[in-house]
Amino acid sequence: MEPLGQYPDPTHVVAHLSDPHLLDGSLLYGAVDTTARLEAALVRLARLPTPPQALVFTGDLADRAEPAAYSTLRAIVEPAAAAIGAEVVWVMGNHDDRAAYARGLYDTDADDDQPQDRVHDVAGLRIVALDTSVPGWHHGELSEDQLAWLADVLSEPAPHGTLLAMHHPPIPVPMLRLAELIELHDQPRLAEVVAGSDVRGILGGHFHFTSWSTFAGVPVSVASATCYSSELAPDRRLLSGVDAHQSFTMLHLYDDQVVHSVVPALDAVEVSGYGLEVLEPFRAMTPAERFDMVSRKDSPLNLRT
Ligand SMILES: [Fe+2]
Ligand SMILES: [Fe+2]
Repeated sequence: MEPLGQYPDPTHVVAHLSDPHLLDGSLLYGAVDTTARLEAALVRLARLPTPPQALVFTGDLADRAEPAAYSTLRAIVEPAAAAIGAEVVWVMGNHDDRAAYARGLYDTDADDDQPQDRVHDVAGLRIVALDTSVPGWHHGELSEDQLAWLADVLSEPAPHGTLLAMHHPPIPVPMLRLAELIELHDQPRLAEVVAGSDVRGILGGHFHFTSWSTFAGVPVSVASATCYSSELAPDRRLLSGVDAHQSFTMLHLYDDQVVHSVVPALDAVEVSGYGLEVLEPFRAMTPAERFDMVSRKDSPLNLRT
């Protein structure tokens, strides 16, 4: 649909999904079919009015880094992305394994000491996949070599700026204090590289709940998980994961703004709305008629007459 308000269409639309935690056919914690959960999210993503140009997955792609889990991931995501013409951006998480990730998703070999950092160009928007994983550990780190590589990448601005996609978000985690033990270390070093660059957004995962902040003056958006979410109001539990509230986040990028919108990953029961049959008469109206119909409180639409 053409713009109806004062803003033009966004220059870029990006879907940010995280933490699918796929497995080799088994249920996560004996309870969650993580493949089905991801498929459900992709069905809803395909229904979005404006399809995204990129699907960014910020890590914990495979819960136990099983080769079959990466195969399943590709088999599910790549056709869904191709159907809407979107590029896929993968990012390593602490549950992933560099060798299995490189083999399963990029058909290449990698050792533990080879971080999986990649640069994508999505119609002039640069998306950097930054590998914050530490082999054998759950917390995050970036080596001096990685930071130097990132600084070199960012030394040349991209036409539409850069999104930095990384599993461990560089922000405080006050809603889940235990996660402080598995956060990204040495965040000031990353801030030195990001500050003053063309990075206009940092995307993270890892928390299994949606969160926002800023880092070095840049907006940070943490997408919840598609598999299960962290219960932020647990009932006498130290830590609680629940098979509910899964979501992903949509980014709409404008010349100097980025809008983040959380999209629940599961369908819900409709209690109000209009059918598509309203669209054609709506399109036939003048802008003034549309404004009157939608904004005036006693218009036929608002009175449902
Ligand atoms: Fe995770
Ligand atoms: Fe994680």
